[in-house]
Amino acid sequence: TVPNVRLNNGVEMPQLGFGVWQVSDDEAEKAVSAALETGYRSIDTASAYENEAGTGRALRASGIARDELFVTTKLFNSDQGYDSTLRAFDASMERLGLDVLDLYLIHWPVPSHGKYVDTWRAFEKLYKDGRVRAIGVSNFTVGTFERLFAETDVKPVLNQVELHPYFQQAGLRAFHQEHDLRTEAWSPLGQGRGLLEDPALAPIGEAHGKTPAQVVLRWHLQLGNIVIPKSVTPERIAQNFDVFDFELTESEMAVIADMDADRRLGPDPATFDWMG
Ligand code: A2P
Repeated sequence: TVPNVRLNNGVEMPQLGFGVWQVSDDEAEKAVSAALETGYRSIDTASAYENEAGTGRALRASGIARDELFVTTKLFNSDQGYDSTLRAFDASMERLGLDVLDLYLIHWPVPSHGKYVDTWRAFEKLYKDGRVRAIGVSNFTVGTFERLFAETDVKPVLNQVELHPYFQQAGLRAFHQEHDLRTEAWSPLGQGRGLLEDPALAPIGEAHGKTPAQVVLRWHLQLGNIVIPKSVTPERIAQNFDVFDFELTESEMAVIADMDADRRLGPDPATFDWMG
């Protein structure tokens, strides 16, 4: 079974969850249903993914008790600002069919318009009103955190960032640790392309009877990262969940540490200002 991590506000979150980026609404319903059947209890979506409704249908159809589920969604860039955040939250909850959310994240900081401070004040209100059990951010940098810490009261519980063996984010992970923030990895498998064929991973997998994807997920878990691998393939959904019966050795962890290549696959959050 999946271990929980304790967030800095005391809330427990499964260390392994299921992500649905780049999955259509109908596909998301099927994939989330398959994931819940496999045993995943943490689901990560976003208003920008346009699949909150399908995700919500799968959550309800599962019959799993609400308090056993951990649901994350994200506020999109064009909804930043105090009032618009409160409205966007209600719309997301409506689509998900939930009364209380487990984790709400600012999707991107968008430092160019600088609205993330007002946005965070709306997050603080949602948190204090009991609409969401934990609030956090995604794609924040040290610079955006410093302004947030200086101007607001409630600390985020985590930062969800691009993180995989080709882009290991050592400096940002150290910053998170220093500030008692958890690190959550998006695209933990490097989006499947390239990384999973890296010749360094196959022999490690063979030594444990595991696939390269399972080795990479294990590496994240042993570093303490929260991971949300995405797949629409039932066999892979199950495979990515089957990572709790082996352990990488220190030298295997070191081999993967050496794969770091500063190879970002997604946008640079310091400049990304896409409004949809
Ligand atoms: P698919 O959805 O077609 O199964 P990330 O979570 O890093 O963004 O990676 C997601 C990508 O990796 C998807 O293209 C997904 O393909 C692929 N993927 C997910 N799990 C595995 C796996 N166990 N083995 C190989 N590829 C995988």
